[in-house]
Amino acid sequence: MTVHTASQAAYIVAALLFILALAGLSRHETARAGNSFGIAGMAVALVATIALTLDQGITGAAFGLLVAAMLVGALIGLWRARVVQMTGMPELIALLHSFVGLAAVLVGWNGFLLVEHEPGGAEARHLDSLGTLGIHHAEVFIGVFIGAVTFTGSIVANLKLSAKIKSAPLTLPGKNLLNLGALVVFVALTVWFVIDPRLWLLIAVTIVALALGWHLVASIGGGDMPVVVSMLNSYSGWAAAASGFLLENDLLIITGALVGSSGAYLSYIMCKAMNRSFISVIAGGFGIEAGPSGDKDYGEHREVTADGVAELLSNASRVIITPGYGMAVAQAQYGVAELTRKLREKGVEVRFGIHPVAGRLPGHMNVLLAEAKVPYDIVLEMDEINDDFAETDVVLVIGANDTVNPAATEDPGSPIAGMPVLTVWEAANVVVFKRSMASGYAGVQNPLFFRDNSAMLFGDAKDRVGDILTAL
Ligand code: TAP
Repeated sequence: MTVHTASQAAYIVAALLFILALAGLSRHETARAGNSFGIAGMAVALVATIALTLDQGITGAAFGLLVAAMLVGALIGLWRARVVQMTGMPELIALLHSFVGLAAVLVGWNGFLLVEHEPGGAEARHLDSLGTLGIHHAEVFIGVFIGAVTFTGSIVANLKLSAKIKSAPLTLPGKNLLNLGALVVFVALTVWFVIDPRLWLLIAVTIVALALGWHLVASIGGGDMPVVVSMLNSYSGWAAAASGFLLENDLLIITGALVGSSGAYLSYIMCKAMNRSFISVIAGGFGIEAGPSGDKDYGEHREVTADGVAELLSNASRVIITPGYGMAVAQAQYGVAELTRKLREKGVEVRFGIHPVAGRLPGHMNVLLAEAKVPYDIVLEMDEINDDFAETDVVLVIGANDTVNPAATEDPGSPIAGMPVLTVWEAANVVVFKRSMASGYAGVQNPLFFRDNSAMLFGDAKDRVGDILTAL
């Protein structure tokens, strides 16, 4: 068997392992196995690709460079994965997507320099003899476009998620026209490039795509960022698939298509959960106009002490806890689990209401609660618990804000209007754990804090939960 045949067989095995990885990752119980399949698939793919490269005869220096690059990359990857906080995960993922985008741009440019730039070269003559030169022109152009959009889009997503720039949507005048115009320019330039592949056309499409990626993500508000991250995941998959066509690497095409389609499907599920239009979000907030600023006067808020909350809980028979990003920041899940145990021992019914986008990544709250050993059966999804708030004595809102904001259902002008939220305000008493009156991730004021049945418990969520435990 030649090295080529063996590596093609290995590619099929790797592709199957990637499919098993996706299947495994779709359920809690099988997620760990899914991860292992993914690691095994990537190991097989790397070994096969290196063997194939060696078989094609590269110089010793080139091989040394390859090994050095892989070692440096692996060390940086291991270090980042070890030190990243759970709350920093989405921004790290966004950064990784930007690398895929950049790689696709470089592969595209490399393809151009090898073929279009050198029309008499070996590579160009080879493609010409196969009659696929025109297809190559299109692959270069489309690959660079998708890669560049993914690159800058992911950088903006990273900056927004790490709070280095404001999460509010950028609303340039005629923003939809700008996006649409960029797409029209792309289509026109692609046709031109396929007919007459010129360097300036490639430079032009790279610039247009970099600007479009930046603008698309900058125009999307903080509340829609979960969809943006999964959408960029999808884009990075298509960028990888485009590189696969250029490099004539079947595995890259398959893997890119798997990532592209699963990312698109995840974006669709998230849009449905948040009552957003899929097309509107992928088109950079198309049709969403900014609402009035949140300077409305909602009146005075009421404060409560940890002792007061302990007393409220002692007299309650039904309690619901709705955690959010603040619980993750404070790492309050262990205290919350302890509080749950104590209350349940006293005969209080305690359940959790989990919003689909609470925290900063899908399933964030579920992971934290599972880590603190909160039983699965009392952790309910938003749709399962939303009708029960009216019969609840006390709701503890621990570091959640946007996901419990009544403005989403009551204020059509709000930037988060239409997003389904946990209707905590229907309960008899609501206690909000947070450090200040600051707004949530979407940058929208929360009228919940000013309701008559709401009280604020200020301070770090972990400390305050500890105080309540002591008082109990
Ligand atoms: P957020 O709206 O982000 O609000 C979290 C609140 O926690 C803040 O208001 C903050 O108030 C408080 N907080 C922060 N640190 C705290 C601490 N140490 N102790 C106590 N409180 C603390 O939370 P959410 O309700 O979970 O909503 C999530 C938001 O993130 C949504 O807008 C969602 O669209 C977006 N998002 C979600 C995802 C996914 S996939 N889940 C991904 C990206 C973005 P103080 O500063 O006053 O303490």
